[in-house]
Amino acid sequence: MNRRQILLGTAGAGATLAVGGISSAVTGKARSAPTGSDAGALPMPVPSRILPAPVPEQDRSRTRMERGWLFHEGDVVAPAPDGHNATYLSVKAGNALGAAAMAYDDSDWAPVRLPHDWASAQPFVKTANISQGYRPRGIGWYRRTLRLEPADRGKTILLHFDGIATNATVWVNGSVVAHNWSAYNSVEIDLTPFARFGDDLNVIAVRVDADAMEGWWYEGAGIYRHACLIRRAPVAIITDGVHCDPRRGPDGVWHVPVSVTLGSSDRRSVDVTVEAMLLDPDGTQIASAQTSATVAMLERATATIAMPVTAPRIWSIETPTLYTVVTRVRLGDAIVDERRTPIGFRTIRFDADRGFFLNEQPVKLKGVCLHQDHAGVGTAIPDSLVRWRLERLKAMGCNAIRCSHNAPAAELLDLCDAMGFVVMDENRQFNPAPDYMAQLEWMVRRDRNHPSVILWSVFNEEPMQGTEAGVEMLRRMAHAAHALDDSRPVTAAMNGAFFDPVNVSSVVGVTGFNYYQGDYDRFHQLNPTKPITSSEDTSAYETRGAFASDPARHIQSSYDVEAASWGDTHRGTWKEIAERPFVAGGFVWTGFDYHGEPTPHEWPTISSFFGILDLCGFPKTAFDIHRAHWVDDTPVVSLTPHWTWPGREGAPVTVLVMSNAERVVLRLNGRIVGQAAVDRIMGNEFIVPYAPGRIKVTALRGNAVVATAAHATAGPPVALRLTPARTVMAGDGEDAQPVTIDAVDAAGRHVPTANLPTRFAVEGAAIIGIGNGDPNSHEPEKGNARSLFNGLAQVILQSDAGRGQIVMTATAPGLKPARLAIHRAGIAAPGQIPVATATMAIREWRRSPAFAARPDPALAPVDGDNNSWAFVRSGTPVDPSAAGRWRIYRAGVSPWRRVAQEGGLIRFAAIAGRAELWIDGTRLAVKDAGQTGTLEATMPAGGAVRTIVLMVEALPGVSSGIVGAVTLEPRAR
Ligand code: GAL
Repeated sequence: MNRRQILLGTAGAGATLAVGGISSAVTGKARSAPTGSDAGALPMPVPSRILPAPVPEQDRSRTRMERGWLFHEGDVVAPAPDGHNATYLSVKAGNALGAAAMAYDDSDWAPVRLPHDWASAQPFVKTANISQGYRPRGIGWYRRTLRLEPADRGKTILLHFDGIATNATVWVNGSVVAHNWSAYNSVEIDLTPFARFGDDLNVIAVRVDADAMEGWWYEGAGIYRHACLIRRAPVAIITDGVHCDPRRGPDGVWHVPVSVTLGSSDRRSVDVTVEAMLLDPDGTQIASAQTSATVAMLERATATIAMPVTAPRIWSIETPTLYTVVTRVRLGDAIVDERRTPIGFRTIRFDADRGFFLNEQPVKLKGVCLHQDHAGVGTAIPDSLVRWRLERLKAMGCNAIRCSHNAPAAELLDLCDAMGFVVMDENRQFNPAPDYMAQLEWMVRRDRNHPSVILWSVFNEEPMQGTEAGVEMLRRMAHAAHALDDSRPVTAAMNGAFFDPVNVSSVVGVTGFNYYQGDYDRFHQLNPTKPITSSEDTSAYETRGAFASDPARHIQSSYDVEAASWGDTHRGTWKEIAERPFVAGGFVWTGFDYHGEPTPHEWPTISSFFGILDLCGFPKTAFDIHRAHWVDDTPVVSLTPHWTWPGREGAPVTVLVMSNAERVVLRLNGRIVGQAAVDRIMGNEFIVPYAPGRIKVTALRGNAVVATAAHATAGPPVALRLTPARTVMAGDGEDAQPVTIDAVDAAGRHVPTANLPTRFAVEGAAIIGIGNGDPNSHEPEKGNARSLFNGLAQVILQSDAGRGQIVMTATAPGLKPARLAIHRAGIAAPGQIPVATATMAIREWRRSPAFAARPDPALAPVDGDNNSWAFVRSGTPVDPSAAGRWRIYRAGVSPWRRVAQEGGLIRFAAIAGRAELWIDGTRLAVKDAGQTGTLEATMPAGGAVRTIVLMVEALPGVSSGIVGAVTLEPRAR
């Protein structure tokens, strides 16, 4: 695989592609100035002109289907069927009622684009659920019209949602096709048997119940991950059907065992050839093998292939080298399917005494727990923003991610593979019953090729962890995970019961400790052969930019002095882990603040205080603490707090210095005010009487200054400033990035105390979310206005499609406005299934028997007679009948609102035979010609159920009937 970074040339010159490893793309982060390194500088990375490498396309049979959706907030309750016959009909395939019905009038629903989290636009409401961040979630509906081309006929057609929060019911063409019970697994629907083609449009309806909760954190609401349509050859590789995780044999020889699961929608048994090729990181093929397989009609078959590999380049956290397995299905000479799967050659093991080993080297897990939301966008977080968040963590020396407490979006794992993180991949529901076991198995099947994934976590803090039933449940889940992947241990994040006579640590490969740090040693002594890791720790509180707690105002000091009773400070926690080689590492609760679970304060607080970075990804003091703990290869030093304290002259200020060097020297306005040997874990504190000016720390190794950090006293704010993370964006309509708004003083220094209202406008991009990291703010997270909080606010821009410029302006009362230009590089947007306009179609008809003479148009089957007239669909010809050439087609139709109010145009695209059209007992149009042709008529206004009757007289000996689509549209205004 050829991973590329994209460097932008001079302004307006467009994108130039430069070949380089992903690691060099990631070194874009090396351009990030260490936090607080410049006096008065913005505590954020320096903007980069590098566009991150795109994650290569892995499955060409997938096309995103994220445009053209309509959304209705709130439930749509279908009226109960009225009478026996209506009930009889309502339970037939294709006959769903209400908003699930094909013909439902959704013309006043809101167009939305997926991914979509409707909760992120909700206000904060005191009576709404606290854990979900006081945001009402409720129920919502989505509908989409889908046109499938006749050329798609015969293919396997799947509808694929990566995640819907929380419970979902899906209908295709009026038939219920899926019930899904979790926000954290994908929903894949075989649309093939339901598909309609050409002008006979398909209708997808999704009812989402987001009142259902699976977590105690903000979970979002709606179709919040990617969605696509999959079109494959009838015999092809199923979704997640390639397993090709490399193995190193006891002899040290590597091989890639490839197992390919094929599925068939074909009408016969088919013989295919399955080929596998291994591409090195430069895209050169270095191994290949093939085998044959027979796939029986509507069955599955698995083909296995092994590819030995000599001396591959090894995947590691520092050098995350990826190879690609290309898997192809060949039918005769034609390649009918292909997948590209990134893989990494690495070994993992957990040692009971020495912790985690990657490639036989001990690696301390310097991890964070993550939820999946971000300021402004909620859980509908663009892939590029996920990348940006991971870049922030990488810059902190973080090397491990725990997906708490659910399987992540697939893109997160792709990025962890490419950027060099290891991952604890976690299942949501602790339950081995079939519906829930399927969720675990789905996760393992989807994620088992990722070199980043090192652990399967089957639960988090389950009260049954110390019971016989808990052990039995876990044993089955671990067994299921291992049946799909024999290479990674299973863990469970326990919060107690470690010493109970019966507890789940007896049936996991690695025991996960949530907190309970005081029990590490005892557990290790009593269980000397059991590896352990902290699966979760810390739970410390910080408000970004605040340096004194104020319980009344729900503000937590950022000196790393406050933590939940079950946790500890960042420094205290890491000390316990760092000192114990047998503890594989830790996962800080949490990397970023998240909406919901406001702790330790409740309303009006709406988010957590736990993050090392705040809701926007602005670093707190904890970021510098972990940099000092975790960054080994470069010297770092930081200084807390800022140095703008007007009115505090002469008062003592506690200065916390964190560094990984040997010695630090602190100067205020050039005068040494403190120096000390570095305490890398607890940091060094100095009490300094405040005087305005410049405070600077130098970090030394031996006599050499290896790093510095400084803050300068800022004056009053005079202007706004806009700082993007990147000065170039892909003009693909997808790329998103945060822009920081801050206020500067007359000398251009960041003012850390500014809390001003700002407004902004943008051209060439959309504002998809806003935030400022204040856990107590109730300002909307959508729109174009946001206050600075302790000096900062964030606007998330998503580029418009096409080349050009993005221009953003920001204003604040009394301040000089800011203007920002970002280049939009001409990069193709990912393909999307075209948007199809919904029109009301009359699809279902009752067709009379044949009559020798013209029947009365009022003739109808008696109510309850579902047998003597046939049920037929538009587009269905009927063969000539000996009994006669006349037939009646009847349909009862409730026109869409506009047609009911204004009248409409009814159009038969193709009728074979002569025809008369009657509506509500009045003849409106006649088709005299017997040959196939159209018929149109104006339908008068009127609501309720309209009776449409088409009398058809066939040409002698010729098929007849409604042989094309029938539509009912509003008249042009
Ligand atoms: C843990 C739990 C997390 C979060 C955290 C807050 O016990 O696993 O999900 O609730 O506490 O401190």
